[in-house]
Amino acid sequence: MEKTLLITGGAGFIGSHLVRLLVKKYPQYRLVNLDALTYAGNLENLRDIEYLPNYIFVKADITDATLLSELFEAYNFDGVIHLAAESHVDRSISSPTDFVMTNIVGTVNLLNAARQSWKNNPDGKRFYHVSTDEVYGSLGETGFFTETTPYDPRSPYSASKAASDHLVRAYWHTYHLPVVLSNCSNNYGPFQFPEKLIPLAIHNIQNSKPVPVYGDGQYTRDWLWVEDHALAIDLIFHKGRLGQTYNIGGNNEWKNIDLIHLLCRIMDKKLHRPEGTSAKLITFVKDRPGHDRRYAIDATKIRTQLGWQPSLQFEEGLEKTVDWYLANQDWLTHVTSGEYRQYYEKMYG
Ligand code: NAD
Ligand code: DAU
Repeated sequence: MEKTLLITGGAGFIGSHLVRLLVKKYPQYRLVNLDALTYAGNLENLRDIEYLPNYIFVKADITDATLLSELFEAYNFDGVIHLAAESHVDRSISSPTDFVMTNIVGTVNLLNAARQSWKNNPDGKRFYHVSTDEVYGSLGETGFFTETTPYDPRSPYSASKAASDHLVRAYWHTYHLPVVLSNCSNNYGPFQFPEKLIPLAIHNIQNSKPVPVYGDGQYTRDWLWVEDHALAIDLIFHKGRLGQTYNIGGNNEWKNIDLIHLLCRIMDKKLHRPEGTSAKLITFVKDRPGHDRRYAIDATKIRTQLGWQPSLQFEEGLEKTVDWYLANQDWLTHVTSGEYRQYYEKMYG
């Protein structure tokens, strides 16, 4: 094998798309997917590639520093792509400490393990930290987040991701650990856990349950097809400049309520229901505390320096997403049994 890479959080939503892309594209790389398999991690996301000879799964928690050191010793990783995180804003509001442990302590454990392992031979090594646009805070009606926008995280989730970003940059400046970072906007597509807006709404519409829209529904997000994010990560990992940060976005802003209406129209069509049936399920509910009004990414840097741009129009991507969820009922049934029911009851009553 030419290289051994560690991918953390590879059984989650974005991580599973990235693992699938890399194991197929780079048969000469050995890919070790480390994941704790929390409620959000699911090996069913990788059934189609788990038999490949260059893929290895390790169930482990990044808060376990000793185990990480042992893994680095055993595999002698050439690179790390770090996605493992607690990722849902609403859960960070009810359980902030879990976010501090995984997103901050877990990241520093990984940085320490990489630093220790690479200290005598840093050439060609690379620690890639995958982060979010939420670290930049909330925008008004205009403007975009660039790589130099000052950090202003406002939820326990975004604060924990911001802290991890700062630590990664601190290891670059202080210890010359070879790092690269990216901050991406909202992803959508297959395998997203149905606590997030789009899969939750698809699931509820299919089951004729209320579709909860927080507050006035005028909150805006910049949506990106998840496979485009995976392609950007591949590009940045191989071609990005060390010590640099790249913003990734869909150039695709939608107010939540407009997105939900579009989704309702698609669902009516797919489920052969009379037009307007799904929209009747829209229910305005109590707002998320500290809800960020608008996110929008300026992706000029990655476009001009690395030649990346989103491939898919939103309507097309949303249709593909709906098709996938409707065709994968077993997956949905598995992930929405057990813990999901308690979470849903607590959140939406
Ligand atoms: P996800 O919640 O779907 O997956 C997270 C994965 O991390 C799961 O497989 C989970 O089991 C694993 N994990 C959690 N805690 C762990 C621990 N302590 N040790 C090991 N593994 C652990 O998240 P996602 O949406 O795929 O996001 C992946 C990364 O991308 C995160 O770092 C997130 O901050 C970032 N991100 C997400 C989005 C988005 O829209 N989803 C956008 C920008 C950036
Ligand atoms: O911007 C990138 C971030 O996008 C990632 O870093 C996070 O990991 C990811 O979860 C996502 O965060 P959001 O909070 O933007 O995503 P979520 O799907 O939870 O919510 C999208 C919008 O929809 C947000 O304005 C809140 C709203 N919402 C969400 C849910 C779950 C509703 O109105 N109703 C809902 O039931």
